[in-house]
Amino acid sequence: MIKIGIVGLGLVAQKAHLPSFANNPNVKITAVCDLDNHKLKHISKKYKIKKLYLSIDKMIKKENFDGIVIATNKEKNSEIAYKVLRAEIPLLSEKPTALKSRIAYKLLQISKKKKVNYIVGYMKRFDNGVIKLKKILQKKKKEKIKSVYYENFLGDSYKNPILKKNKVKKKNHFVNYLNSYSHNINLLRYLFGDIKIKSSSLSKNGEGIIFFKSKKTDIIFNSQYSKSNKWNETMHINFIDKKIIIKFPPPLEKNTNATINIVNFKNSKNIKVKIKNGWSFTNQANAFVELLRRKKNKTLCNSKDAIEDIKIIEKIF
Ligand SMILES: NC(=O)c1ccc[n+]([C@@H]2O[C@H](COP(=O)([O-])OP(=O)(O)OC[C@H]3O[C@@H](n4cnc5c(N)ncnc54)[C@H](O)[C@@H]3O)[C@@H](O)[C@H]2O)c1
Repeated sequence: MIKIGIVGLGLVAQKAHLPSFANNPNVKITAVCDLDNHKLKHISKKYKIKKLYLSIDKMIKKENFDGIVIATNKEKNSEIAYKVLRAEIPLLSEKPTALKSRIAYKLLQISKKKKVNYIVGYMKRFDNGVIKLKKILQKKKKEKIKSVYYENFLGDSYKNPILKKNKVKKKNHFVNYLNSYSHNINLLRYLFGDIKIKSSSLSKNGEGIIFFKSKKTDIIFNSQYSKSNKWNETMHINFIDKKIIIKFPPPLEKNTNATINIVNFKNSKNIKVKIKNGWSFTNQANAFVELLRRKKNKTLCNSKDAIEDIKIIEKIF
């Protein structure tokens, strides 16, 4: 059995990580940690977890883990990661790993020194729609991609910044952008290779357009905070004679995946691609467990790769 510990028992842990790891037959969640005693008791009862900790230091000292999952507040992820990596425990951390690339780089150095796996939770890569899209793009690799248009109008999957607009301080716009849109930048890099910023036109709160260039194509990325509660995330991949449209679900909507349509420009035929049902968070959890069982997985985002997203967003702001 793979022994997993989970730190931070908020929204994401409760909706995604706890059920995903608990459903894996090779896993035992042996201990959980949060600063909130109420959450600890509720979760331990629901998942029959016996060891509860209010402090990560104590949990690491007393328990033996094969891996730890961090899902604390975005400001705390790096502090906890530092302790987990120093203790030489393989780690799956929620994004962002740190609020500055300098700190993310230091964490990477520790993981290298300690020779410990350090994975970042860019789970969109594990969406069954994205897995299918990768295969389609691989088949079409000789066809020129004329352009890519990707929009993400954030809806209510998470604490929509628009709902607490008055509380958002100016200096937090970078952090909000990093928190939400690092997912999209990570995915663009995953699909189209290294990207460079050509130009950008963003409002102070991070809404607007960025033009990227990769070796494969030109990319327009449009970030907006949706005025409605609807999540609206779609990518259009334009070829000479056809277009692939991939539409993403709200990330925390359980057991859903992206859909793909291919539109033929010549005869206007619109074909819906068959995609196996599944959920990105569960696929990612299973891949992390397999990694702990010594089976490598190229889809998992390592922390070195994830630093690039922070660096790009630092350049944008
Ligand atoms: N992958 C995704 O799609 C996705 C979606 C939403 C959020 N997230 C990320 O997940 C992480 C958690 O987000 P959330 O919405 O669940 O937050 P949350 O505020 O609901 O929960 C965070 C929890 O961490 C606990 N915590 C804080 N400091 C701690 C510490 N030092 N030790 C132990 N526990 C501590 C808090 O008490 C709280 O229960 C963030 O990094 C966020 O960016 C990812």
